[in-house]
Amino acid sequence: MLVNDILRKKRDGGELSADEISFFVDGLADVSIPAEQVSALAMAVFLNGMTSKEAGKLTMDMANSGVVLNWRDAGLEGPVVDKHSTGGVGDKVSFLLAPIAAACGCYVPMISGRGLGHTGGTMDKVESIPDYNATPDFSLFRKVVQDVGCAIIGQTEELAPADRRFYAIRDITSTVESVPLITASILSKKIAAGLDALVMDIKVGSGAFMSSMDEARELAGSIISTAAAAGLKTHALITDMNECLGTTAGNALEIAESMRFLAGDEREPRLNEVVMSLCAEMLVASSLEKDRDKALARTDAAVTSGKAAALFDRMVIGLGGPPDFVASHRQYLPVAPVTVAIHAAESGYLTAVDAFQAGNAIIELGGGRRQLGDTLDLAVGLSDVAAVGERVDDERPLAVVHASSEDAVAAARGLLLEACTVAAEPPAARPVICETMTAN
Ligand code: URA
Repeated sequence: MLVNDILRKKRDGGELSADEISFFVDGLADVSIPAEQVSALAMAVFLNGMTSKEAGKLTMDMANSGVVLNWRDAGLEGPVVDKHSTGGVGDKVSFLLAPIAAACGCYVPMISGRGLGHTGGTMDKVESIPDYNATPDFSLFRKVVQDVGCAIIGQTEELAPADRRFYAIRDITSTVESVPLITASILSKKIAAGLDALVMDIKVGSGAFMSSMDEARELAGSIISTAAAAGLKTHALITDMNECLGTTAGNALEIAESMRFLAGDEREPRLNEVVMSLCAEMLVASSLEKDRDKALARTDAAVTSGKAAALFDRMVIGLGGPPDFVASHRQYLPVAPVTVAIHAAESGYLTAVDAFQAGNAIIELGGGRRQLGDTLDLAVGLSDVAAVGERVDDERPLAVVHASSEDAVAAARGLLLEACTVAAEPPAARPVICETMTAN
C-alpha cells in the first residue's frame, strides 16, 4: 500500500477503507510514515472530514496501537471513570476534579496531554510540581490509583502511541479543530485507559477549538456515539470558554490556584460551577448517584471536608513529589522574575474577551509551545485575571502578567489589550454550563 495513494484519496474527498486506516495508524506508531505525510493526511481530513465509520476505525486503531489497561483484576471498590476536556485557557479542572471524584468513590486514572495550539496542557502544568513523576511505569500508576483513588499522569510511550505522535504533529500544523480527529484523539486514549465511564467537557467559545454551539454539539454527538460503539458510556457537558476559566492562566500559576481551591481559600464561581457539575456528572455516568443534586452535594462536601485536598497530597507523594504540597505549594512552585499589572486604556466593564488571544499571550510569554519540542517556562502566565462583567480601572487591572523579562511583558500586554473589550455598561450574564448531552 502506498501512503501517497491514501493521501490522494482523502485529498479528493474519498472514504478510506479499514485497511488504509490501519496502514496509516501502524505507520504513525512505528514512525515509518514521515511527519510530512502525516501532516498532509491531517490537513486532508481537516478539509474533507471523515465518515463516522472512518472516525470509529481511526479511534480503535489508535487505542490499540499500544497498551490497553485493564482494571478488572485491580480489586477496586468503585467505578473507573475519567473526565476529558477539549481544551481551553486557564482550564485547571483536572487538578480539582480528580481528587474530588476520588473522594466520592470513583477511581480516576487520568492520562493527560500536553498543551495543544493556544490551550494549556494538564501534563505540562503538573510538571511544575517538583519531583512529580508524570510518566511513571504502569505498575506505579496502577498502585497510586488503587491506593489513593486518582493519579494524573501524562501520555506515556506505551499508551496510544499513534495518537501521541499525531497529536504533536496536528498541534503545529493548524489541524486540531476537526471533529473526527478530536474524537479519535480523545477516545483512543480513554479507551486505552480501560474506563467504565467518561465525562467530556466540550468547551465552546473564543478560547475553544469549537467556537459555536452547533460545532460543540456536533463534537459531543460524535464523541458520545463513537464511544458508545466502543462500549464506553459517555456523557458530555458543553461549557463556556469565552474567557479564562478561573483567575489564572499559565502552568505553575494554575497549579497554585488549584491548591487554593482545594484548601478552600479561593473558589472562583465559574471554575467552581464547572468542576462541581463535571464531578457530579461523573457520579451519575458511573451510576454512583442517580440524582444530580445529591451528586452535587457530595462533590461539594469532598472539598469542604478537606478530603479532596488530602487525596491530592497523597497522589503527589505517591508520584514522588513533596509531602505537603497543597498547604506549602508556594514554596515549591517556580516564580517568574517580572510581574506587571496590565490596566485597560479606559475604565469600565469588561464586556468580552478573545480567549484565543489570551492563550496566545501565554505562548508569547514562553508558557506554551510554538513548535514541536519547545521547552516551556512553567512560571510565566497571567494571574488576577478579571472576569467578564467585572469593573476594571486604574486600581483593578485586566490581569497581572508574570514574565521572564520586561520585553516579554510588552508583547503579552499588546495581545491582552487586544483581547479585552471594555465598555461603559456591564454585559448580560452568560451561563457557564451551556448544555448536558448523554446517549439516548
Ligand atoms: N484533546 C485531545 O486529546 N485531542 C485533541 O485532538 C483535542 C483535544
